[in-house]
Amino acid sequence: MTPSDLAFDKQHIWHPYTSLISPLPCIPVVSAQGVEITLSDGRKLIDGMSSWWSTIHGYNHPRLNKAAKDQIDSMAHVMFGGITHPSAVAMCRKLIAMTADPLDRVFISDSGSVAVEVALKMAIQYWVAKGKPDKKRMLTIEHGYHGDTFAAMSVCDPVNGMHELFNGVISQQLFAKAPQVGFYQPWDDADVAPLEQLFADHHHHAAAMILEPIVQGAGGMRMYHPNYLKAVRKLCDKYDVLLICDEIATGFGRTGKLFAYEHSDIVPDILCLGKALTGGYMSLAATITTQAIGEMVCKTEAGVFMHGPTFMGNPLACAVAAESLSILEQGDWQPQVMAIEAQLTHELLPFKALDNVKDVRVLGAIGVIELHQPVDMESITAAFIEQGIWVRPFGKLVYIMPQYIISEQQLTRLTTGIFKVINSL
Ligand SMILES: Cc1ncc(COP(=O)(O)O)c(C=O)c1O
Repeated sequence: MTPSDLAFDKQHIWHPYTSLISPLPCIPVVSAQGVEITLSDGRKLIDGMSSWWSTIHGYNHPRLNKAAKDQIDSMAHVMFGGITHPSAVAMCRKLIAMTADPLDRVFISDSGSVAVEVALKMAIQYWVAKGKPDKKRMLTIEHGYHGDTFAAMSVCDPVNGMHELFNGVISQQLFAKAPQVGFYQPWDDADVAPLEQLFADHHHHAAAMILEPIVQGAGGMRMYHPNYLKAVRKLCDKYDVLLICDEIATGFGRTGKLFAYEHSDIVPDILCLGKALTGGYMSLAATITTQAIGEMVCKTEAGVFMHGPTFMGNPLACAVAAESLSILEQGDWQPQVMAIEAQLTHELLPFKALDNVKDVRVLGAIGVIELHQPVDMESITAAFIEQGIWVRPFGKLVYIMPQYIISEQQLTRLTTGIFKVINSL
């Protein structure tokens, strides 16, 4: 990329969560292969982010490339209204086989946030069809993150989810204190008391409970106890509230189980998937529910589910997703994620000895270092690049979720690079 390209980018193009007035520098990336991204000056960085949870099989994967090329040669896109095609069917067959019974009705959409919107709309339409139109509100927990569109934002953490800014515009949802007992800590029934109270007080107007199972991602990178999710399932059953699990970040093996709800041996009523669905090749998401709920949703006066994006079921994305799911079906992800978890535990836990580190958490292929103070993004990013690694912290959280194919040596380069940077702050 030329200096003029970079100047143009800086002046005209918005990047995620950045100011147009004083944007942070963006590094020019020209290619990516396996777990490495290559900068325009030729430097290669080991990627610790999997492009925000998505590129689980690594960049430039021959099987995913072939799936995309084969599909593009036959049909890059065709509308999904009144039309179907083999790639959508192949992908949905695999999704249904992978997810728990009785989840078997799939709504395909374009991004994680839209998959959440779809889930929330399904829940509301379900209760309208059942003759309980007052059940419209959502129950959730603090520190959640579910996307940036309006309904998704309404169920994000009220403090770091920008509710203040959009006050009066986004729907008021009902929040319980987030679980405090960590994944590995001894369980305490008291952890679920605030949520029990929320259900008791508000179930009569609650359509659904939505949460990220086991790992809360962008709302704080928190890992909670599987018994909490078990208790959530029981409360939903007791009070007749649908359970939506947002596995957009945690799905497809990231936490050590194919889906994080498996840690708790529960099945949600509605499941949201995205990010790694296409192996990080393009944006695609799915909202999956059961036959009973799906059919009820369609029993409103409208007779249909009221949603239908232009690029729903995009063949190119579905073809790559079907191939990515085939790679997962082969099962290598499991020993890979287990090995990453063991290595991260071994190499990150010693960070606890650093004065500026508050906590270290590891689960599956996720490693989190929580600092006492927020980082300075510009200088820490430059320091990571100096170490030959790509890590993108937010606030007080330095975290990594590498590609499942990362080698032991590459992962050590990542963790030692992070150690050097944090140690020098
Ligand atoms: C749990 C969760 N839900 C929803 C979303 C929104 O997905 P997208 O950015 O594809 O809209 C994200 C994205 O980070 C997420 O982590």
